[in-house]
Amino acid sequence: MTKVIETKDLCKTYVVDKRQINVLKNINLEVDEGEMVAIMGPSGSGKSTLLYSISGMDQITSGRVLFYGEDISKMNSSELADLRLDKMGFIFQQMFMMKNLTILDNILLPAFESKKGGSREDKIKKGEDLMRKLGIIEVADNDINEVSGGQLQRACICRSMINSPEILFADEPTGALNRTSSNEVMDELVKLNEEGTTIMMVTHDSKVASRCTRVLYIVDGNIKGEFRNDTSLADKDRERRLNNWLMDLGW
Ligand SMILES: Nc1ncnc2c1ncn2[C@@H]1O[C@H](COP(=O)(O)OP(=O)(O)O)[C@@H](O)[C@H]1O
Ligand SMILES: [Mg+2]
Repeated sequence: MTKVIETKDLCKTYVVDKRQINVLKNINLEVDEGEMVAIMGPSGSGKSTLLYSISGMDQITSGRVLFYGEDISKMNSSELADLRLDKMGFIFQQMFMMKNLTILDNILLPAFESKKGGSREDKIKKGEDLMRKLGIIEVADNDINEVSGGQLQRACICRSMINSPEILFADEPTGALNRTSSNEVMDELVKLNEEGTTIMMVTHDSKVASRCTRVLYIVDGNIKGEFRNDTSLADKDRERRLNNWLMDLGW
């Protein structure tokens, strides 16, 4: 198995009013190519910080984060920016979509920023293909306030996929959605994962987590447990098993 991500004694500390807050404490984890990993845990346990640290958005305090074996904390800021743009995709709950651009133009932004991948026309075609695949092509020319929450989140997925990343990071991608939209967004993420994109996502929703291949449970900056979903089981059974495991951890 090829490791996409590996952390070694990853620590993240914030200093607030001269007081040290140890948010991540010696996190050791690995994510293999093709996995879809959910990060769960109580609010404030460090889930978002972990995602930001691994994806190079946040500087770590000590330890190492390896991306395909390469230590990202040794990269300079322009190397890291290129890596993030070309090899990583990001989906966040409060999505930063530009208000003065259409949905399609928002999706295309990272493509035009990147030096890789074809002509302007090729990039536009790829954006439209992604929108078609996620069932939102009809809103390509809409403003971002002219679409539903579910459509906007699917547009965010298109944008995160526009540069064909090796790994997709998502922080509560379904957190602001109703159950129907949440299921739709998860269907798309599972499909992308089955097509080969490695995914790492934070979620509060055990139904969402039950569709991932593995669940990590974080408490107070430590990984307290790890659960492999049996993807051959029916949705309901997977959900029930995961819920039992979560209850044992005090969820
Ligand atoms: N920039 C920051 N400065 C100081 N403390 C922070 C900062 N960001 C997060 N924290 C603290 O780190 C802890 C973990 O936060 P976070 O990773 O956002 O948790 P989660 O995503 O699990 O809810 C919280 O106690 C939070 O207050
Ligand atoms: Mg969070």
